[in-house]
Amino acid sequence: MILLKLFVWRTNMCGIIGYVGKRIAERVLIDALKKLEYRGYDSSGISVFNDGTLSTFRKVGKLINLESDLAERALTSRIGIGHTRWATHGKPTELNAHPHSSTKNKITVVHNGIIENYLEIKQQLEKECNFQSETDTEVIAHLLEKCYAVEGDLLKAVACTVKTLKGSYALAVLCQDKSNEIVVAKNSSPLILGLGKGEMFVASDITAILSYTNKSMVLEDGDIGVITKNTVQVYDKELKKVTREIREIKWDAVLAEKDGYKHFMLKEIYEQPQVIEDTLRGRVNLEENDVAFDYVNLNEEDIKNIDRVVILACGTSYHAGLIAKFLMEDLVGIPCEVDIASEFRYRKHLNVLNAETLVIAISQSGETADTIASFEAAKKANVKNLVISNVIDSTLARKSDNVVYTRCGPEIGVASTKAFTAQLCVLYLVAIFLGKKRKSIDNDLVALVLKELLKLSQKMSQALKNTKAIMEDWAKKFHKKHSFLYLGRNINYPIALEGALKLKEISYIHAEGYPAGEMKHGPIALIDENMPVLTIATQSSVYDKIAANVEEARARGGRMLVIASEGNDKIRYQSEFVVYVPKTMEILTPMLNIIPLQFLSYYIAEIRGCDVDQPRNLAKSVTVE
Ligand code: F6R
Repeated sequence: MILLKLFVWRTNMCGIIGYVGKRIAERVLIDALKKLEYRGYDSSGISVFNDGTLSTFRKVGKLINLESDLAERALTSRIGIGHTRWATHGKPTELNAHPHSSTKNKITVVHNGIIENYLEIKQQLEKECNFQSETDTEVIAHLLEKCYAVEGDLLKAVACTVKTLKGSYALAVLCQDKSNEIVVAKNSSPLILGLGKGEMFVASDITAILSYTNKSMVLEDGDIGVITKNTVQVYDKELKKVTREIREIKWDAVLAEKDGYKHFMLKEIYEQPQVIEDTLRGRVNLEENDVAFDYVNLNEEDIKNIDRVVILACGTSYHAGLIAKFLMEDLVGIPCEVDIASEFRYRKHLNVLNAETLVIAISQSGETADTIASFEAAKKANVKNLVISNVIDSTLARKSDNVVYTRCGPEIGVASTKAFTAQLCVLYLVAIFLGKKRKSIDNDLVALVLKELLKLSQKMSQALKNTKAIMEDWAKKFHKKHSFLYLGRNINYPIALEGALKLKEISYIHAEGYPAGEMKHGPIALIDENMPVLTIATQSSVYDKIAANVEEARARGGRMLVIASEGNDKIRYQSEFVVYVPKTMEILTPMLNIIPLQFLSYYIAEIRGCDVDQPRNLAKSVTVE
């Protein structure tokens, strides 16, 4: 059971495509997969009919590997499904690549999502089915074949299969007996149908098919559909026919890749509620009041012996680490230091690290040279270690004994947004995991935090909705300023640092994040009527203190901009500009407070005409020192 759990590779970003019509399917599939490559690209594959037989071709690495392989095969099928994979953990191998086939090769399936109960299903099917991969998806192929044997109909087989699945899925299914139809299904993963003349498509998003048709039908959760070259029919879970609106998309392909957003950064800001849902999926067990990870092998004894946590990271990931210090100390009760990787790597620390130290490296890319070097240096002291990364099988992930992946999909905007909140989300889970094993965390508190974490996605959507227009307005009013101060206290001090970093890197305005209580020891001298002072003053144990800091800055003529909790009307007497975010537990406030700050930096950079997604002098992965 444990072994299975450790070696199952799941996917949640990925791109799927299906085609039936008059063209050579292989060419349409490859062309569409190229447009979906931005969703991930560790392996890819297609299934088509080759001489009347359902045939699957898969390759590891970039799509070009699959394309070159297919070029020599002269396939002529007019129907097929395809997949480009972005695994959330585990090795990208040919066997793990999609499409996945059932034992008798009667069915092939592509999947985007996470099947939470794959283990139970796998255990039930293992005796009768020949499992080839370590993915969660393969259980779907075997279930489909089983249901098809009973129902004798592909649509009914899909309906019967999805009743067993828990989790998220967008599926496209081909059957050996049905060379003219693709059956699709959707729950919590994106899926659209594309309607052409004498040809139909299914895809993860419109980007993939925009060069063939601009007519699409967005499927809803629970929908099951059948497409043939001339027909589209959508059903609900009980196979009652339903109608979905046909929309005409006016975007060009570039805009479509960004889902209609002007920049990847904005798209990624908006993806955060979904990313948080994905990152929590299958890891929180409310019944047992606990959390679980697939690739963490630290046992109770190891964890009890930890006497200190050292966190290593750079940039935005370092800011996530600074927040984790509060979690380690307040929730778990272990002393915690957070170090900038480029500083740590050149210090002599071997004599202060030992087998009782847990070193956590945080890196979206898993390729940051300084983080890798500092992690390797720490490992020489035989420390316990853990990596938090977004990229499957990244260099850092491979160097670590334990890994927890954030599930953001590729982050393309250079300024990190969704990776930051996903890192925080993982850090809350890691803190609870450690606290539970050490029996140092109160069970009622765990229950509270877990329940509130599960509500965060919805609260983030609320914060996105409520703060966008206000931040656009602030951006219009303040984009010409030369300098900004960001103030925060306690667990929101790192959010002040992160807000200032976002502004610096994409709008090229100087901004400084400061602990508000430290102002009077120097920086308060900077404040005059030209200085916007952005203060994070949401409800907290230090609210009165920060409210007093707002007063101090206001008294010196500073232009006060305040992030406050909904319902705090009093703060309006202290500040000209207030933006409200939903209430949550104090330790979770950073997850919501960062949202208006991401927006503010984005809109200021936009007005100033800066290159938002690729700011000057910066690279997404800093793979050199
Ligand atoms: C800022 C930003 C950078 C990265 C830093 C570390 O928006 O993106 O500061 O956070 O370069 O990168 P990773 O997390 O990939 O190690």
